[in-house]
Amino acid sequence: MQVETLIEKSCTSIGEGPHWDERTQQLLYVDINEGCFHRWTAATGVDEVYKFDKYCTLVVPCRKGGYLVSVGQSICHFDWDTKKLTTLGTVDEGKDTRINDGKCDPSGRLWFGTMGLEKVPAKVEKHMGSLFSLETDGTIRKHKEGVSISNGLAWTEDNRTMYYIDSIPRKVFAYDFDIATGTMSNERAIISFGDEDSMENFKTHGFPDGMTIDTEGKLWVAGFFSSSVMRYDPETGKELSRVPIPAAHCTSCCFGGKNFDELFITCSAFGVTDEEKEKTPLAGSVFRATGLGARGKPAPVYEG
Ligand code: BGC
Ligand code: CA
Repeated sequence: MQVETLIEKSCTSIGEGPHWDERTQQLLYVDINEGCFHRWTAATGVDEVYKFDKYCTLVVPCRKGGYLVSVGQSICHFDWDTKKLTTLGTVDEGKDTRINDGKCDPSGRLWFGTMGLEKVPAKVEKHMGSLFSLETDGTIRKHKEGVSISNGLAWTEDNRTMYYIDSIPRKVFAYDFDIATGTMSNERAIISFGDEDSMENFKTHGFPDGMTIDTEGKLWVAGFFSSSVMRYDPETGKELSRVPIPAAHCTSCCFGGKNFDELFITCSAFGVTDEEKEKTPLAGSVFRATGLGARGKPAPVYEG
């Protein structure tokens, strides 16, 4: 296994939301508190940036062209060429929240969640967030309330199970999933990073954050505060292996590259303490891990 620094310190706040765009061989990601949408082109190594005026936490290409992006509490369509931003819907109006992680399911509907605002990493008022979907006809549906930090999402190959992370209870949940109707049911916790109150395993695991799934159905979960991405078996809840990252706050990962065997990993520089700074001078960089013996597949795009 090799881990390299791919894009050095490109994020000054929370590097997040990596999405490999196979059509253009580009890595899309965000720098949340800066409101920045980054687009790194594999062929040239050039990292382009566009800044919105509020938090930007997710970017997903649209089949029809352009991207879905989140800006604060809104989901918008963004045309990179003209820089035209069109709001498609707003959630949590009147609440002190922002959108966080989001991803399309294999039918091309967007799933995204919200969280309370934080001044210090992962310190939020609990249960302020919800999980929503943006259907391909443009309607927004709420699926779950009482979420603390809405985070990683993944679906099994047969589309019958959805995985979802709420970082504060430190758990990955599984649901029975109906892809035709876009409904989730029968919640169960399948992976625990440790007890929430005693913060057991805090140094080794931290909080579960972003996640992706490989072709063997195993989950790759970023451990915020743990400097690593961990591979888990969702059937047994056991950790199988881990990728150590030279930065303290690892936020998310996705597979990409020509053969989908490269793991792109984002991390945060927000709230990194002086003590951590010495240990993690590369905070805010994007890393690439190869030689993992695992691969992913193309991430769905928005079909609406
Ligand atoms: C959020 C951060 C948060 C972290 C905790 C990220 O997805 O964007 O704001 O601190 O999760 O795990
Ligand atoms: Ca996240």
